[in-house]
Amino acid sequence: MSVLQKMSSAEAIALEDKFGAHNYHPLPVVLSKGKGVFVWDVEGKKYYDFLSAYSAVNQGHCHPKIIDAMTLQAQTLTLTSRAFYNDKLGVYEKYITEYFGFDKVLPMNTGAEAVETALKICRKWAYEKKGIPENEAQIIVCENNFHGRTTTIISFSNDENARKNFGPYTAGFIKIAYNDIDALEKAITSSKNIAGFLVEPIQGEAGVYVPDEGYLSKAKALCEANNVLFIADEVQTGVARTGKLLAVQHENVQPDILILGKALSGGAYPVSAVLTNDSIMDVIKPGQHGSTFGGNPVAAAVAIAALEVVKEENLASNAEALGQLFRSELNKYIANSSICSLVRGKGLLNAIVINDSEESETAWNICVKLAENGLLAKPTHGNIIRFAPPLVMTEYQLLDCVGIIINTLKDFEK
Ligand SMILES: Cc1ncc(COP(=O)(O)O)c(C=O)c1O
Repeated sequence: MSVLQKMSSAEAIALEDKFGAHNYHPLPVVLSKGKGVFVWDVEGKKYYDFLSAYSAVNQGHCHPKIIDAMTLQAQTLTLTSRAFYNDKLGVYEKYITEYFGFDKVLPMNTGAEAVETALKICRKWAYEKKGIPENEAQIIVCENNFHGRTTTIISFSNDENARKNFGPYTAGFIKIAYNDIDALEKAITSSKNIAGFLVEPIQGEAGVYVPDEGYLSKAKALCEANNVLFIADEVQTGVARTGKLLAVQHENVQPDILILGKALSGGAYPVSAVLTNDSIMDVIKPGQHGSTFGGNPVAAAVAIAALEVVKEENLASNAEALGQLFRSELNKYIANSSICSLVRGKGLLNAIVINDSEESETAWNICVKLAENGLLAKPTHGNIIRFAPPLVMTEYQLLDCVGIIINTLKDFEK
């Protein structure tokens, strides 16, 4: 068959299965088009996207303003590398630093790269500014974290599937319980060699765990008191997903280092960023960190457009309002449900907990049925299903989706 010929879902799945590494376990749906909150499969069936590419497509699929910016820039200049200056990068750097209130940005491409960047900056700051003896810096991380897939990042994961047989692991990390301020205090004060605390303001991948109110602000205060950098990984929670521009803003926290990715481009292009202030960023000198594609002109143009859309379309307040509505509607149903025990989340980053064992197939089967009923979602871990639609959703569409979810759950009630 010619590669240009239209193919069926079964054919597309067979191709991926035969020629691609089996490093994902997708739902059996083959998508070929997206617009706003909707995606279509190759047979033309239309679905609500309730995953948004793991919160990358906050601005909706193929947002015209973002695609216009990308197309125009792609026709003009795509890549210079950082061997030379380009006329878009500085404009973007000024825009994003003012947007989030930091002095400087270091541009990268994927979330994991940005996390690696933050860890490197933190370590270098620890040796050169805090005075920790070389090679002795420790960074505190949380149990059940998800920060990406590189060797260093999986070194401090406690997901056995993500970790096993990828050793030897990178040293220098202390793992503590999430949402446990006493554990953080104990760890921070246990040694003079603590450089940073890396935390997700909500643990998305782990199953949308929202910490107790006050956890983030107390954690920031503890970091400040002990000259430890508070590093917020907002790759999933940032860019309006949780009802504020950043999830840390629910507690008025300004991180020392902010990590962004995913929705920074509205899902149009891999764009990630690490933001911090001059006194921290100035530890990085030429030759010490970088990426061929980081800060390329297309990424810069796309990210400016994507961030403008967030403000112009009030996506944070829409996420806040629709998130409240989503949880209150689902809670009404859950009150009398035997299959679903809980809904939790902030803004439009939510999850339901299915009343079955973590090893059961029930959540997966519910997602297959949801797809049949026209809504795409995916279990995060075992019995937890994450719901994260594009933030451009309307109230009418959200209620339509709630109807689909409830009707689907009804089929699984015992
Ligand atoms: C909190 C968090 N950090 C980092 C990453 C890694 O991002 P990427 O897949 O773009 O490397 C993710 C991806 O899901 C994430 O949720």
